[in-house]
Amino acid sequence: MKIAIMGAMPEEIEPILDKLDNIKETLYAANRYYEGSYNGQDVVVAYSKIGKVFATLTATILIEKFGCDRLLFSGVAGAISDELKIGDLIIADGLCQHDLDITAFGHPFGYVPEGEVCISSDIQLRNIAKKVAKQKGLTLKEGIIATGDQFIANSERKEWIKKTFKADALEMEGASVAVVCNALDIPFFILRAISDSADMDAGFDFDTFLESSAKISADFILSIVDEM
Ligand code: ADE
Repeated sequence: MKIAIMGAMPEEIEPILDKLDNIKETLYAANRYYEGSYNGQDVVVAYSKIGKVFATLTATILIEKFGCDRLLFSGVAGAISDELKIGDLIIADGLCQHDLDITAFGHPFGYVPEGEVCISSDIQLRNIAKKVAKQKGLTLKEGIIATGDQFIANSERKEWIKKTFKADALEMEGASVAVVCNALDIPFFILRAISDSADMDAGFDFDTFLESSAKISADFILSIVDEM
């Protein structure tokens, strides 16, 4: 087993890189990939840069060039559900693209022909995450994560995403990673810790809590790797 651990921003992978042994850095397709071992388990770690296109590229390279056969995503998200507060963890059971819109042709939001509105993450990996949360006495919410190439700092847009996709949190990469892993038949999951509430304070909150929430998510991912 070779596990890809992916984030979107440096802050999301640095706490993971700090814990790796024998790191080998490779520059490929204008990005850095870090092969190493974590408690004897082979991992490849990278941050993609923000957004769906960069995340698609990085996920594909982790699988196709580095031979990863599991992919775990760690990072931060904006909360939609009122249950989620800053620092809380959510794991996606399904992922959708809130900015995908060919409704002009009679299709629902988030759908293109031969695709799906919502892609499910791997149930076994989710079960491991739930087991680890229980062992650690942490609350782990499971729900729908909506992805789009927009930083949401607007309550109306947030409400629209909630209503349209029944989403609990939103971010900018998860659903594109889901598309890649689904197409290439690679078990994956998307874990996020809340950095903001996607409202008018989101920009300020994101800057304030990015590092602490990213570390909460990264620490939890490493405990999951221990359990795999
Ligand atoms: N990631 C974390 N917070 C976010 C937000 N408000 N919008 C999009 N992506 C995010």
